[in-house]
Formats: sequence, structure tokens, C-alpha cells
Amino acid sequence: MLTVAVLISGTGSNLRVLLEAARSTDFPARVVAVGADREAEGLAHAEEFAIPTFVVPYERFDTREQWGAELDEQLRVWQPDLVVLSGLMRLLPPDVVAAWAPRLINTHPAYLPEFPGAHGVRDALAAGASETGASVIVVDDGVDTGPILAQERVAVLPGDTEHTLHDRIKPVERRLLIDVIRRVATGELDLSFPRT
Ligand code: GAR
Repeated sequence: MLTVAVLISGTGSNLRVLLEAARSTDFPARVVAVGADREAEGLAHAEEFAIPTFVVPYERFDTREQWGAELDEQLRVWQPDLVVLSGLMRLLPPDVVAAWAPRLINTHPAYLPEFPGAHGVRDALAAGASETGASVIVVDDGVDTGPILAQERVAVLPGDTEHTLHDRIKPVERRLLIDVIRRVATGELDLSFPRT
């Protein structure tokens, strides 16, 4: 059974769908802990599923490196086989990336390398793109530049707002993420040799 720790910053709607999938006895992974960089709303989903949570508040540390060191320590408590960034809106410091990658993956609401960064949906709309997408990648030291594990296109529709478009992207992200975790767990996807 693959053990997974999930890191979030926000509402955790993707986390919730993962928790639901992982509850099924035929899913080959289970979530062992959920962490956040703030008192994120989405921690409530973990609590509902009786999954341990931890918060490492970013603003309590002088540097990103100090914050990352504490986050790393908290993750090590759970010894997860895989760490999933599911809406963690912070860049991890290089030491933390080095400690966990390639067993460190991220979901992103765009078809990378298009529209990386914190506002992938907004940026796709601002660029007037007719399609965007969802991606699951291995985290590296760049901003959404790591090897792509799965991705799928999502059409931008006339009249789309950031909200409506993001709402259509998220179900795709969830499906891709759950599929990637399943494939890592079964050995079908070997993260030590991620595709570029
Ligand atoms: C997701 O769309 C995730 O891909 C995105 O934040 C959202 C979190 O939603 N992450 C990024 O944009 C990271 N660059 P949720 O909290 O409702 O699951």
C-alpha cells in the first residue's frame, strides 16, 4: 500500500476527492497525513476522514528555508512514499525538493508548460487561449517546470470566468491525480525515471 502525504493551502476540493478514492478498499494508496502552510479550509476534509493534519504557518518563519525545514520535519514523521502538492500555493525550497523528489508531485490547472505559476487559470483567460488544461508533474526547483506525468486539454468556452473555467478544470485534475497515484502505487509508473 502506497502511503501519501498531501499539502494544501486552500479549499482542498481536490484533496477531498482523493480522500474519497483512497477510502475504497481497491485503491492501492492511502493518505496518511495532510499538511498546510496556513489554517487552510481544506484541513476540515482530512479531519472528517480522521486523517492527521499539521500546519506549518509560512509567516512564522524568517526565511523560506526555515519554513521548508520545519515542513520537511513534519513530513518525515509520516514517512510517506509520496508527497502530493494539491493546491499548495508556496514554492518549496530546494532542500525540500531534493529530499523528496521525484516522490514529490504537483497538480496544476493548465497544460504545462503553458501558464505556470500561481494564476494558471487567470493567465490562460488573459492570453485569450481557446484551450488550456490540467497537468500532474514531478516537482523540481523551477516554477511548474518538472517532468510531466499526465495532462489533458480543457476547452475555454465563450463567457468563461476564472471561476467557471477552474471549476471545469478541477475534475480533470482530480482524475489525472488519482490515476497517477494509482499507477505509482501499482508500479506501472516509475517515478525514478519520470518522462520529460
Ligand atoms: C487546484 O486547481 C490546483 O491545481 C491549484 O490550486 C487548486 C486547488 O484547489 N494549484 C496551483 O495553481 C498551483 N500552482 P482546491 O484547494 O480546491 O483543491
